[in-house]
Amino acid sequence: MTTPPPTPKQIATELQGRVIGQTRAVREMSIALAKVLAGLRSSNILLIGPSGTGKTTLMRAVETYLSENPRFGEHSTVIRFHAKVLADLAEEGRPGEVVLRRLLEKARQSLGDDATREQLLVRVRRGIVFVDEVDKIRSHVGGELHSAGIRAQEALLTLIENDSVPFTLPDWAGGGRESVDSSGLLFVAAGAFEGLYDAVYNRVTIGADKGALKSVTVVDDGKIREELQFRLEEWLRYDDLFEYGMSPQFLARFDSMVLLEDLAVDELIRIFLETEDSGLHQAQEYFASQGLRLAISPSAVRRIAVEASAHPRLGARALKEVFRRVIRDYEFDPSLAKASGSALMLDEPEVDRALDGEGP
Ligand SMILES: Nc1ncnc2c1ncn2[C@@H]1O[C@H](COP(=O)(O)OP(=O)(O)O)[C@@H](O)[C@H]1O
Ligand SMILES: [Mg+2]
Repeated sequence: MTTPPPTPKQIATELQGRVIGQTRAVREMSIALAKVLAGLRSSNILLIGPSGTGKTTLMRAVETYLSENPRFGEHSTVIRFHAKVLADLAEEGRPGEVVLRRLLEKARQSLGDDATREQLLVRVRRGIVFVDEVDKIRSHVGGELHSAGIRAQEALLTLIENDSVPFTLPDWAGGGRESVDSSGLLFVAAGAFEGLYDAVYNRVTIGADKGALKSVTVVDDGKIREELQFRLEEWLRYDDLFEYGMSPQFLARFDSMVLLEDLAVDELIRIFLETEDSGLHQAQEYFASQGLRLAISPSAVRRIAVEASAHPRLGARALKEVFRRVIRDYEFDPSLAKASGSALMLDEPEVDRALDGEGP
């Protein structure tokens, strides 16, 4: 008996080993994957979220999950590329074919050189395509037309849900022309859409829909005041994305739109402590290579996360920047740190000193 395909819950549990928080995005992705792995069609997903909140991390988590489970092989030929690459290729023509070709190469990697043309094409037709930084192919930037962006969007359009995409096969796959039905492909696009938040906020406060966002009365420290509480997901409409420079036809190919959230301090703490490529783990590896162990107190970690959360435009990337400021002097001269035996101990005062600009 073959094992049944995984449920969305099972997939989400796996992805949450690598993606902290962002429950909605993880769930939407898990549902889409469950469908794909069951051999069904799934709607394409557009992920919108501030920089450094986990969009690329989520895509990579999916790639890792699929590659660690070879039994999904048949349904899990996955590629990821930057939309900008597509824009560059669009300048030269035929960018859509490049995407199919990357899928074909990926299929050969897992099937081996003996795979038949038909085996390869089956996998191409069921591939998963991640388009990262999709906001870099907007149709206009600062009032100027962006022709590479327009062409890249068109290229993707012809590739998404098209029952016959012309495809010239490379010689190693037998050459010749094929027509590929792309309706079985899953597309997930992601972008930060910087400026979108302000644009929508302006629309509902001072712009076309002036007054739509009503102030609410809040009681703070016994004082009553009026406050505008704005949440992008409550107000974002497809029209705002058209204005931003994504064509209506392009957006219409994405049935599911998910907004990622700003990361809270507790999530930043978990990212700092738990993710493999965090600044903490990099520093610990470095000190280990010097025969030293680096320990950090919970209050020091919280202090770093709070400092990082003060830079919302960087998301979790701010953790690395803040931690560099804390750790660089100790990396240069470990004897500056409090030590017991071969362990260095970072506590809140050390972090305070570094962040308040005095240095040790
Ligand atoms: N939700 C998250 N879970 C785990 N790590 C995250 C998360 N968000 C950001 N990170 C970490 O922050 C860095 C930038 O995240 P990334 O996913 O590349 O951001 P973006 O949303 O801009 O694509 C990565 O090193 C990643 O490990
Ligand atoms: Mg990214």
